[in-house]
Amino acid sequence: MRIANEVIEEILARTDIEQLISGYVTLKRAGSNLQGLCPFHSERSPSFTVFTASRSFYCFGCGAGGDAISFVRRIENLEYPDAVEFLAKRAGVTVVQSDSYGTTPRFDRRRMLEMNREAAKFFHTALFAHTPGADAALAYLTEKRALDRATVSHFGLGYAPGGYDAPLTRHLLSLGYREDELIAAFLSGKSERNGALYDSFRNRVMFPIIDVSGNVVAFGGRVMDDSTPKYKNSSDTPVFKKSRNLFALNFAKNAASERLILCEGYMDVIALHAAGFPEAVATLGTAITADQARIMSRYTKRVVISYDMDEAGRRAADKATRLLEEVGIEVSMLTMRDAKDPDEYIRRFGRDAFARVLDGSQSKFQYHLSRIVAKYDIENPDDKLRALAELREIIAAVSSSVEREVYVGIAAKRFELSQKSLADDVEKSVRRRKREVSTKEHQSLRQSLTGYSDRVNPEYSRVPKIARLEETVLGLLLLDTRHRRGIFSDPPSLSESDFYTEFSRRVFLYVRDALSENESESSILNERFTPDEIGRITKMRLARMQLTENGDEVFRSALDALRSEVSAKRMAEEGNPLALLDGILKRKRNDT
Ligand code: CTP
Ligand code: MN
Repeated sequence: MRIANEVIEEILARTDIEQLISGYVTLKRAGSNLQGLCPFHSERSPSFTVFTASRSFYCFGCGAGGDAISFVRRIENLEYPDAVEFLAKRAGVTVVQSDSYGTTPRFDRRRMLEMNREAAKFFHTALFAHTPGADAALAYLTEKRALDRATVSHFGLGYAPGGYDAPLTRHLLSLGYREDELIAAFLSGKSERNGALYDSFRNRVMFPIIDVSGNVVAFGGRVMDDSTPKYKNSSDTPVFKKSRNLFALNFAKNAASERLILCEGYMDVIALHAAGFPEAVATLGTAITADQARIMSRYTKRVVISYDMDEAGRRAADKATRLLEEVGIEVSMLTMRDAKDPDEYIRRFGRDAFARVLDGSQSKFQYHLSRIVAKYDIENPDDKLRALAELREIIAAVSSSVEREVYVGIAAKRFELSQKSLADDVEKSVRRRKREVSTKEHQSLRQSLTGYSDRVNPEYSRVPKIARLEETVLGLLLLDTRHRRGIFSDPPSLSESDFYTEFSRRVFLYVRDALSENESESSILNERFTPDEIGRITKMRLARMQLTENGDEVFRSALDALRSEVSAKRMAEEGNPLALLDGILKRKRNDT
């Protein structure tokens, strides 16, 4: 064990799972438990449950589940030891960790973050080095892009020197960081020709990406001319996931209570912050992801999309709107004239003009209404019908009926229709949508319950009967330690070989070791299993909880049934009489 059991147990004892999860999810009491909208998938009715007594959580919609540590692993996207550290900090417990965990080699997250910080310092210092390259970079930022010095240092902007003598790589090696760490952090690459290391970022102005805890997690680098590619960005690293970070959210999160402004580019965000709009953020060179939408929803209820004023920007804005609305964010769209993006707009017209555009940012409905009216010739009856069909779907997608009524009123006027007929049409769509949603939720629930297309236990669909019995037995073992007695009898009456699928065998070993090795059950669980697997294990236990009557009898008969299924299966597989005999002997031994 790398982290002492007592430490883990103390952290868990000091962590109130209700309070922890309430920091991310709005929970409502439901009997002795709490419920809320799942932070790990999009849903409209709550299936995410916190079980106070067993200090665990489970989502009946997507199957996420586990204890406080598993929750932090998922929601903060951390490896197990880092999740422990996260909770330790929160609980005020000191954790001493060594470099390596488990059997798989991994990188020390703290070291890698320190290294990134050193790299950011290096780039920032290099910007003021008065070399011809540095001077050009500084002039690019302060003259061409009109940023003041305060903004340059606020964002920690920098310069990556050109050439192939790898100044950053040499600097970091001299500080004691290793080659493999430099490469894994995307700061250096290795030449295929001669094996030499080179700097990943060369002759670019540098934008450090900082997470909400203030760690430097990645970099973006822009060329200073029209060469391509315009930006080079860190790919995912052990400390960075593009799809789960937003540029400048570290600053914007403090200003987000009223709204966030979502832009396309780093330069847009920087220009907005400099002009007094610290609530601006951007994705990192990709379209917005569902994860990013969920992360934004933790900080705000309202997002103004301020994408580029071209066709690509409009399409991207539609996609962003969909994802943001799915997590309950109210979206509006900013439209600018005579500038292609917010950066240019502010440079040309100033901050007050932008503030006015921002105030006038159209509600999504108005935005769609003007878009649709512009797209169709509504004097033409066919076109008018098409326009109305499109608008009807947009209104029907709004969840508040009061809001729908308002939009129906506006649209009816604009299209010279009776409010009643449009409203009827809209409500028909609303009902159809509701049916679709509930079928979809139902299907995914069924899938998660039947193990169809099962990633956690890929053998499930091949031997569903066996896998179901295994889950029953394991669920009871997990739920009630009394059932575990047979594991420790001499000879044991319950062993690894009673289980057929590989996943179930691993769960069995976890159950066994959690008792016999005198270790923290939570640390064994979190060390050995991925978050998805932990979700499944939580489900097995829960499924048995509803059937506590006659636990002993259920356990006996499920185990008997499992044994005969497994031996029949093994027999059929091996098809030879000796294997059959073997199976019988083994059962006899086990039955004593
Ligand atoms: N981007 C990228 N790679 C590219 C081009 C763009 O990763 N080759 C990402 C960057 O995150 C960039 C964003 O997409 O910030 C928006 O692109 P663009 O509008 O072209 O960039 P700006 O940051 O607005 O840059 P500039 O105003 O300097 O052209
Ligand atoms: Mn731009």
